[in-house]
Amino acid sequence: MNVKLYSCVVKRLGQSSVRVVLLAVAVGLYLIPSPIDPEPYIFEGPPPALEGPLAVNTRLQRGRRLFSGQLKGPESFTADQNGNIYTGTVDGKLWRINKESLTFITQMGRNIPECGKSNIAPAEDEKMLVPESVLGTSTDYEPVCGRPHGLRLDRDGQLIVADSYQGLFKIDPWTGEKTLLHSSKEGADGIPFGFLNGLEISKNGTMFFTDSSSKWGRRHVRYEVLETNHLGRLLSYDPVTGHVRTLLDSLYMPNGFAFSSDEDFLLLAETSIGRIIKFWLKGPKAGTREIVLNNMIGYPDNIRLSDRGTFLVGISTVRFRGRLFPPFLDLISPYPTLKRFIVKLIPLSWYNVLLPKYGLILELGPDGEVIDSLHDPTGSLTWAVSDVFQQGAHYYLGSTDLPFLPVLEEWS
Ligand SMILES: *[C@@H]1O[C@H](CO)[C@@H](O)[C@H](O)[C@H]1NC(C)=O
Repeated sequence: MNVKLYSCVVKRLGQSSVRVVLLAVAVGLYLIPSPIDPEPYIFEGPPPALEGPLAVNTRLQRGRRLFSGQLKGPESFTADQNGNIYTGTVDGKLWRINKESLTFITQMGRNIPECGKSNIAPAEDEKMLVPESVLGTSTDYEPVCGRPHGLRLDRDGQLIVADSYQGLFKIDPWTGEKTLLHSSKEGADGIPFGFLNGLEISKNGTMFFTDSSSKWGRRHVRYEVLETNHLGRLLSYDPVTGHVRTLLDSLYMPNGFAFSSDEDFLLLAETSIGRIIKFWLKGPKAGTREIVLNNMIGYPDNIRLSDRGTFLVGISTVRFRGRLFPPFLDLISPYPTLKRFIVKLIPLSWYNVLLPKYGLILELGPDGEVIDSLHDPTGSLTWAVSDVFQQGAHYYLGSTDLPFLPVLEEWS
């Protein structure tokens, strides 16, 4: 489809959806304030064609699931020199993985029974068809339980963890002892953090991290994407002075990022608009940014450097396929009024039904060019990939909600 025809189709479908929605709701509904204040966002065109390095395959199915029912939503990973792998889960817990064994390290917040009983999880048996209002809003406990996202080891072997809700922590991986380094409440430049997400530690010890939104927390990530605001920041924390600096602001849901091997730049995902930017740290362009990948095939989550010097990107949702409709977000993104309505009509827990269950990860070259992609079109191994972490020949695949840890034995 060419761009014109595409936008025409999107517009048509969009307009008819507007009509349907308008007819379906009473005037009273119109008067209820919408929780979101969306901005229109129009992609440059249809998502790129599934050809060349993006051609459909089943290479992401060639793996296996570990710790089924034990690890829920391992979002990001890091490893120590002995090959132990660390991850944090949606129930607010930190874990150490050694081959096939799993050790609990600590709970980021309070360890209460409600932790991790999120019903927005796209469970394999499609339980999420039952609305949140019926099951109770257990995601409301997330801020209490904590939610570890980005985590890395510092030079002293201590875990540095970005807890989505609470702030930056230092944690002893062997005793579980926690130290709060910088609270989300304190934030930066007078603005508290709303949704801490990606984290990297540079060679000189400076910690870089993202606040995806100063408005919506992690449990409201759907609102954040629908609203398409630009209230995200890239920040740094100096472990010596404790000083937090804003490096970039006005970002569209900044999420994961990765340094190049000599740290002359980093690549950063802006999830809500399907874009990757390059931010220069050294050289004549230091401090400037440029767009390296736009109008992506899906919504990028974390970015990791592979040992081949390429960048591996987890795609949380693809844009080229819908479950019940054509690509749902593409369809509605230009229409703030429609988005306001949809949020009033559809409980948060239902969006997973609208989004395709399609696993996809990308491999990018240093200039953001797509050089390879692994697909799982039916979600038989995984989908909604948040992280692609290479450890020797193995690749650990993260997710925000899935109750298992998918591992590829090789990149084949
Ligand atoms: C530490 O390294 C980062 C990334 O290379 C750089 O941006 C920062 O300026 C460095 N800080 C110091 C104090 O040298």
